[in-house]
Amino acid sequence: MLCHIKEIITSAQKGGYAVGSFNVHNFETALGVAHAALRAKSPAIIQVSEGAIKYMGLKPITHIVSTLAKNIATYTPIALHLDHGKKIETIFECINAGFTSVHIDASDLPLDENILLSKTVVEMAHAKNVWVQGEVGFMVGGHGKKGEAITIPLADPEEVIRFARESGVDTVAAAIGTAHGVYDNETIYFDLLKKIKNGINIPFVLHGGSGLSDAIIKEGINGGVNIINIGSDIKIAFCKTLIKTCAENSEETDPRKLLKPTIRAVEEVVVNKMKLFGSAGQVIVQ
Ligand code: G3H
Ligand code: ZN
Repeated sequence: MLCHIKEIITSAQKGGYAVGSFNVHNFETALGVAHAALRAKSPAIIQVSEGAIKYMGLKPITHIVSTLAKNIATYTPIALHLDHGKKIETIFECINAGFTSVHIDASDLPLDENILLSKTVVEMAHAKNVWVQGEVGFMVGGHGKKGEAITIPLADPEEVIRFARESGVDTVAAAIGTAHGVYDNETIYFDLLKKIKNGINIPFVLHGGSGLSDAIIKEGINGGVNIINIGSDIKIAFCKTLIKTCAENSEETDPRKLLKPTIRAVEEVVVNKMKLFGSAGQVIVQ
């Protein structure tokens, strides 16, 4: 069922688990996440980037996620979120399209400008009962990228705390050792997470969730991570499966036969994340 992100996060905070925010890029990845939520009896956030909106169109992707939430993940809460919103017009359109949460990513701006811009989005979004995620400390890497160690800059905890207090955002993300993509040296600096969590009273969002070991993720959840973004692991599972299926069936003329395994591959990845995050089994189906 489609619901407000607030309901999902409030339950997660009470239950002491984290919720996955899964990037979808097309119908098949969205269907994979919806199947996973149903199978794992887990709440989920489905998020789309500006790139995914450009590819699919805002109305089609909004309707696809809504209809999957209503008709596939019938008993499990699903919320729709804009990931890394950079353009004010897109953020505005998502608020009006029915998203219950939007991310204003002004992390590349000086702190004061980031606060000012995020605050403007908060005023606009709260008027429509929509949550806002803000971000401090630029996330390096790229979705779907894989590779050797890269330099990962860290956020200043005092800046994150000031940002959270002055911008009025509902959730906050900060660079604490992870990167977008899958890299050898990704980690979570737990002392940094602790300093941030001690100074804020809003949920913390971990970006760059792909490429982290299960042990690091679990310790992060114990340290107060509430939402975990997963993008690259979904892209990689989809593409690997599609490439393999096409190579093994190069004469196939039915797109469904080539695409069906990709839906299953995404479902598998997402179910495993839900188990790891502790959100699996949290939905009681009567
Ligand atoms: O905003 C999206 C996420 O931070 C995804 O990061 O590609 O490393 O999973 P990831
Ligand atoms: Zn991110």
